[in-house]
Amino acid sequence: MNFDLPILAPSILAADFLKLGEELKTCSDAGISWFHCDIMDGHFVPNISYGPAIVSTVRDAEPDAFLDVHLMIENPDNFIEEFADAGADLISVHYETCKHLHRTVQSIKQLGCMTGVVVNPATSVDLLKPILNEVDLVLIMSVNPGFGGQAFIEASYDKVRQLAELRQEGGHNFLIEIDGGVGLKNIGKLTEAGVDILVAGSSVFKADDIPSRISELNAKALTGSDKLA
Ligand code: DX5
Ligand code: ZN
Repeated sequence: MNFDLPILAPSILAADFLKLGEELKTCSDAGISWFHCDIMDGHFVPNISYGPAIVSTVRDAEPDAFLDVHLMIENPDNFIEEFADAGADLISVHYETCKHLHRTVQSIKQLGCMTGVVVNPATSVDLLKPILNEVDLVLIMSVNPGFGGQAFIEASYDKVRQLAELRQEGGHNFLIEIDGGVGLKNIGKLTEAGVDILVAGSSVFKADDIPSRISELNAKALTGSDKLA
């Protein structure tokens, strides 16, 4: 699949769930085509969010959107089929939760979804070398997973650059996604460092004016990127 990069991917965790359909439409009317769905089980991360039912609600509300499902759960193998059936386009699993990561990635592929692997702030991207040729996306957590609205971890820039180097050296073509604490102050620097997909929760949904915040974030993402035509 070809994407017009960089892409701003609102994380619906930060949305007002009392009016989720409205908030999704506000975003898609403002040009958003990629939504990030944070699934938390209260075991791998100290928070519980939502399950496949909400993902299928989002799919029904936004049939043409790209749904990127981030599994922050123990034993993801037990749930990938449910999220694929709920309408996920991409399913990403944490390196830290997979005993047999290669098999899990293959199972996601067999379900017809794109594949992603996620690393926590203290997990080196070097550990992903054996799997980089198999995945469509690598997600670098720039906060400790579990909550929106946390402070961005500055060491994430170097991690992005390191991962971009591994991609180039290995001739891989996975997308680089960043997740956590992304906002107006850092989005340009992140695309400059090599990020393709920028997950933003509170900086989008907690804004007074969501459409203008989306255009501000997009503009800054583009200025900071060497991807300008
Ligand atoms: C955290 C989630 C992130 C979070 C981003 O565990 O994976 O996607 O929702 O929220 P902000 O952008 O508010 O840090
Ligand atoms: Zn996430």
